[in-house]
Amino acid sequence: MITGDSSTEAKTPLGNLEEWEDFLKTRYPEPASNGNHAKPFQAVDPEKKSEQFRNYEADARPTVREFYRLNHRHQTYDFVQAKKKDFLSLSRRRMSIWEAMEFLNTLVDDSDPDTDLSQLEHLLQTAEQIRNDGHPRWFILTGLIHDLGKILCLFGEPQWAVVGDTFPVGCVWSDKIVFHQFFADNPDVSQPRYQTRTGVYSEGCGLDNVHLSWGHDEYLYHVVKDYLPPEALYMIRYHSFYPAHREGEYQHLMNDQDKAMFKWVRDFNPYDLYTKSHQKPDVARLRPFYQELIAEYFPEKLSW
Ligand SMILES: [Fe+2]
Repeated sequence: MITGDSSTEAKTPLGNLEEWEDFLKTRYPEPASNGNHAKPFQAVDPEKKSEQFRNYEADARPTVREFYRLNHRHQTYDFVQAKKKDFLSLSRRRMSIWEAMEFLNTLVDDSDPDTDLSQLEHLLQTAEQIRNDGHPRWFILTGLIHDLGKILCLFGEPQWAVVGDTFPVGCVWSDKIVFHQFFADNPDVSQPRYQTRTGVYSEGCGLDNVHLSWGHDEYLYHVVKDYLPPEALYMIRYHSFYPAHREGEYQHLMNDQDKAMFKWVRDFNPYDLYTKSHQKPDVARLRPFYQELIAEYFPEKLSW
């Protein structure tokens, strides 16, 4: 919510984090035939024009618009380097996965407690849908944990540095990035080395060498990268990289492994976007199954 307090205004333009996800769903509505998640998922519509983005932008809530304005203005190359230096030492807490889920659950926002689900319930819903569709155990586990990086909000980070569609910094911004016009206020616009197609990178250099705008995807990737298979790590690290996995942009920075692995990022996306309902999962009943699954892949405590 936008309030009169300027510090609050800059940190929390959204009433809650779900406003960003609701906006994603208006841009990428669930295909009617894909309701049961059984059919192949068509990720990229090559016919989509930037014109359509403008309609979504015009119809977006003022809070969502303000959120993207701050995100595009402040996510500079230097900002990303500074956040990586600050957070990727993973020296804030030692927690188990379940403790991190309970910690994320303390995130209190403007959502209505009578009708909305908690963060922990959302994670269980996503995991349960993946489990119901018969996917491997590591895939279920990925659904369970994929948003745990949102604990960045509890470390005092502003919403625009935790969620939002991610994009590379240090090279020119794709015009398929929603609210592209807000990049006009990003200081990197006046740095010629950041304004070419490859920028500070090189053709086919691989996404591991590319800095994306800072948020919950990259942070969680570093927390879990030693414990999960590469497919899971791609899902975690790039699930908000909509310009690539839904718009097909930035192929020129990918290597062959990235291109192959993005199949998994696209397979994961429907579970991220479309599994949330108002039906509460039974946490007490589900907990033993998920505790066992967590123990199969992770040590008792991880560094956050
Ligand atoms: Fe996410």
